[in-house]
Amino acid sequence: MNIQHNISLKSITSFGIDLIVNDFFELTNIADLPALSEVLERKIIGGGSNILCTQTPKGLVIANRTKGIKLIEEDANTALIEVASGEVWHDFVLYTLSQNLNGIENLALIPGTVGAAPIQNIGAYGVEVKDVIDSVIYWDWTDKKMVALSNIDCRFGYRDSIFKNELRNRFFIVSVRFRLSKIQQLQTTYGAINEELTNLNILRPNAKDVAQAVINIRSSKLPNPKEIGNAGSFFKNPNIPIQQYLDLKKRFATIPSYPVNEHTVKVPAGWLIEQCGWKGFRKNDYGVHEKQALVLVNYGNATGEEIWQLSSEILVSVKNTFGIELEREVQVW
Ligand code: EPU
Repeated sequence: MNIQHNISLKSITSFGIDLIVNDFFELTNIADLPALSEVLERKIIGGGSNILCTQTPKGLVIANRTKGIKLIEEDANTALIEVASGEVWHDFVLYTLSQNLNGIENLALIPGTVGAAPIQNIGAYGVEVKDVIDSVIYWDWTDKKMVALSNIDCRFGYRDSIFKNELRNRFFIVSVRFRLSKIQQLQTTYGAINEELTNLNILRPNAKDVAQAVINIRSSKLPNPKEIGNAGSFFKNPNIPIQQYLDLKKRFATIPSYPVNEHTVKVPAGWLIEQCGWKGFRKNDYGVHEKQALVLVNYGNATGEEIWQLSSEILVSVKNTFGIELEREVQVW
């Protein structure tokens, strides 16, 4: 196996933090998994778009570069597609559109790989990847064997799954099977999608049009990691009890909310952070994006420690102002 040494993570993770890893391996063939199971400690990188590195990671860093998309079966209404975990997520979205398959058009332009998608149940504009996942196949580092988990067994939640909990550090996702629809089932009610379709003069949209609208919206407010380092939403949107929300509404009349169930609402963390005055904050090379307060940014030479400190200050100020404890969404190394 070709293990490389002293590799910088600057261009390998989207935050663009310049940390040197001692041992680095690019995995292209899953036949190497049994041998890699013998390594004492390892960390896996997919697209590197949801990781903040604050210190040199211990052990072997494995970058997932596996590729392959294949049709497993199809019927009149659906197709079951198996995708290697190292495929770039957005490329896969474009592939499904080229095959006239529906279901993930709202998830266009989400950075990262197919293998990372189930781990945090990626979601945007009213769709979560759990809605189309049939099953996930992973290599178990401890038992040294392949395991297939059904959708239910993955225990998906909001930006959550079994991979962040019981299976933490135990798995390498090899491939994901998606059940996609041949029938158009557009989800355009969320956010600015309809507004953007109107701007584009599209009266009867198809999945490609919705993907284009999502691409336009995302590009207009989320920083491109190739230009400004970031890892998308840094925090999760918190769920709070309805009573707490009603009490807050007396003090902050414009606080937005989305219903979750009869006891709970979700409030946008970006709004809370903006109200605390952080939007557009910048010190040296680290800060809060000027168009989306949920996104922390590296303007060039920020350290992981600086971004971590900033996130801690934001946590304290949101807690002091609203009594809400935010939770980080990014993985911290
Ligand atoms: N808002 C503000 N100020 C801000 C940012 C947002 O007031 O600086 C308000 C907006 O006005 C809006 C609300 O917050 O009322 C929601 O904002 P937006 O639609 O931009 O979405 P979000 O809740 O901030 C979530 C996901 C994104 C996903 C978008 C669109 C999380 C943690 N983030 O962001 O996912 O793209 O919805 O569906 O759930 C990611 O996970 O990395 C990610 C980018």
